[in-house]
Amino acid sequence: MAKDTLSVTDNRTGRQYEIPITDGTIPAPELRKIKTSTEDFGLMSYDPAYLNTASCRSKITFIDGDRGILEYRGYPIDQLAEHCTYLDVAYLLLFGELPSPDQKTSWTRQITTHTIVHENIKKFVDGFQHDAHPMGMFLSTVGALSTFYPDAKNIFSEDIRRRQIHRLIAKVPTIAAYAYRHSIGMPYVLPDNDLSFPGNFLNMLFKMTELKYKPSPVLERALDVLFILHADHEQNCSTSAMRAIGSSHADPYSSLAGAAAALYGPLHGGANEQVLRMLALIGSKDRILEFITDVKQGKGKLMGFGHRVYKNYDPRAKILKNMAHEVFEVCGRNPLIDIAVELERIALQDDYFVSRKLYPNVDFYSGLIYQAMGFPVDMFPVLFAIPRTAGWLAQWEEMLLDPEQKITRPRQVFIGPKRRDLTIAKVSTSKATTIV
Ligand code: ACO
Repeated sequence: MAKDTLSVTDNRTGRQYEIPITDGTIPAPELRKIKTSTEDFGLMSYDPAYLNTASCRSKITFIDGDRGILEYRGYPIDQLAEHCTYLDVAYLLLFGELPSPDQKTSWTRQITTHTIVHENIKKFVDGFQHDAHPMGMFLSTVGALSTFYPDAKNIFSEDIRRRQIHRLIAKVPTIAAYAYRHSIGMPYVLPDNDLSFPGNFLNMLFKMTELKYKPSPVLERALDVLFILHADHEQNCSTSAMRAIGSSHADPYSSLAGAAAALYGPLHGGANEQVLRMLALIGSKDRILEFITDVKQGKGKLMGFGHRVYKNYDPRAKILKNMAHEVFEVCGRNPLIDIAVELERIALQDDYFVSRKLYPNVDFYSGLIYQAMGFPVDMFPVLFAIPRTAGWLAQWEEMLLDPEQKITRPRQVFIGPKRRDLTIAKVSTSKATTIV
């Protein structure tokens, strides 16, 4: 009769074990019961980079990588991108449901009234070199916020957690904008509470001498959609960093600074920056085949392609490919789009990419849109970090309230030298003792 268990025979001892199967997983601690003797530590699973290890049970984001499905709290990403704002989606990720009209009003007010940062933050940002990478400035400044809000250490108080959530979601665009304005040597712009979340961000970035900044509705909406698409993506590298740091009960600013650092890497949130550099390096459509041949020979990667989870078209890339043209109508066409579309077409017909199920990911088109909107490439990972703050915080809170979670502490398989003793040799020419 069918049972939700796994029967295991240990061929070293001939003993049999029955391991429960829940939601398609086996509890790894059960393996510890499989021993050759009472002194034996017991079996462990070996899974570098967590290729096949579920680290938590989560209700937030669902991905079916084979079918190219992404859902936040059950809602398909394309429906959210079409009908919601980023602030609606942030609320959904954090609280499990879309806000009612009253909840939306109060949530928007909370976020809007927390956008200003302490004046000392300006001095802090001023301290960076003029050519400091905005992501380096962003993640250090987010970490520095913990020193402004020592109450944030009280992570088990719901009220205090809520206050830090409001502060973080509201202040990350301000910090991002300060980093940008610092890098171009322009004065910082105060938040404008009359504007929407993305509209105010554009204001803090691009306002010059006009009395009131008026964002383009197309760009405001495009940025909102980009924020929705980047808001969460289950247990990716930076979210896992957020959960791991948070599991030591660090405050959310410190945890989020660590998550942002993980996002900075070129294999994660830094990939869209690399896509632009790659497209510029290719330079023209007639050099694509040569570039693809180099990639297939292991000379670099096709940036913006491939994903640990998606073995199909990333649904976010699909939305962005269409949106690119709307943005280009307002901002002018980014000439690199022609190279990108042709590169995608050629790669998707090439057995190297087809057999490895390598498809465009979210970063393949996002950079082209950001660049057309006037963002320098250095700002791309920062633009990713702003909306991902909602996902990081939702995952952090879920981790904290999950009774099954403890401080993150993986095991290792030690392959270094066996125990050995030091040899102490006295050096006769000096009084010093050298250890060899
Ligand atoms: N270009 C060329 N070959 C690739 C690429 C790529 N972009 N991605 C994977 N491959 C190849 C690998 O070389 C490997 O080939 P092999 O089997 O012959 O050794 C095979 O495809 C499987 O790749 P893995 O490295 O095992 O895939 P993994 O799941 O570890 O990596 C990753 C996923 C890091 C995203 C990878 O595809 C990559 O580096 N892509 C480019 C960077 C990028 O776009 N990152 C953004 C990801 S989305 C995000 O973070 C928001």
